[in-house]
Amino acid sequence: MAAAINILRGVVLTLPWLIWVFIVDFIVSLLSPFLPIVPDICYNISSALAESGWYWIQLIFTRANGAIITVSGDVLPHGESAVIVANHVMWCDFYMIQELAVRAGMLGRCRYFAKTQLKWVPFLGWGLWALGMPMVSRRWDKDKRELDRVFSGIVYRKWPTWLVSFSEATRYTPGKHAASVKWCAEHDRPQPQHLLYPRTKGFVTTVQHLRKATHVKAVYDLTIAYQKGDQFHCPPSMWETLSVPDITKSEGYRFHVHARRFPLSELPTTDDGLAKWLETCWVEKGNWLEEKRLEWLTSVAE
Ligand SMILES: *[C@@H]1O[C@H](CO)[C@@H](O)[C@H](O)[C@H]1NC(C)=O
Repeated sequence: MAAAINILRGVVLTLPWLIWVFIVDFIVSLLSPFLPIVPDICYNISSALAESGWYWIQLIFTRANGAIITVSGDVLPHGESAVIVANHVMWCDFYMIQELAVRAGMLGRCRYFAKTQLKWVPFLGWGLWALGMPMVSRRWDKDKRELDRVFSGIVYRKWPTWLVSFSEATRYTPGKHAASVKWCAEHDRPQPQHLLYPRTKGFVTTVQHLRKATHVKAVYDLTIAYQKGDQFHCPPSMWETLSVPDITKSEGYRFHVHARRFPLSELPTTDDGLAKWLETCWVEKGNWLEEKRLEWLTSVAE
């Protein structure tokens, strides 16, 4: 019975939102022919539309379904453009990033690296492309044109942006973790705890390009952690985030996002230096996650 009520609840909460997303998608797609003529206006309109959709789903999760997201670390400056790297556990990671983006007034300016296959999802893929999401295959020679498209808006038109990349390229699973451990052992690299070894190529390319954009001032490293009961790294499914009431208090889910801000001017300038920087960042991120796990473990035992 409770399950049936949750399904109904999820549908009632999600359906109006989905309809709005389709409308937004439609308008954003209609804007794309005007993009070369009035690029800044198009970017502002599509950002405002995107913000409405993203804020709405954030409210479903946090207000309607009672998710309590804990934030820690550096306070991110209001309205600042940045390159953002985060670990990837589940679909719902975007709520954690949005929580910070709302506080920094940058929700409408979030642009995520997405898989190129998404371009072929009818309707939705178009909208993502028109919004200026970089759609990459992760074969960097092939992605050059796409990156030039996205970076030129940021570099030459100075569009405010949070450019978000999940540097592990894929979601965390025990199987992928085992593969990462093996790869790190073979290549003499440190394996970060609770994480996959990051892909450095995309990060290096992004930072080297966006250095030319004077308004992009920093790299933010976001660490996302979940707990359910006494289980670490155990996030809810997307459907649960939309349908389950009181997801923190009655279901025992915990959500945490930890932010660190690094001025771009303090990062290494060489490609190798940047790759090494990201590696160190991931090792520190892993240590932070282990501390969080222990802290949560003790608090559950109490
Ligand atoms: C777009 O929005 C930004 C910031 O909100 C503003 O500074 C800029 O003037 C806007 N551009 C246009 C063409 O409306």
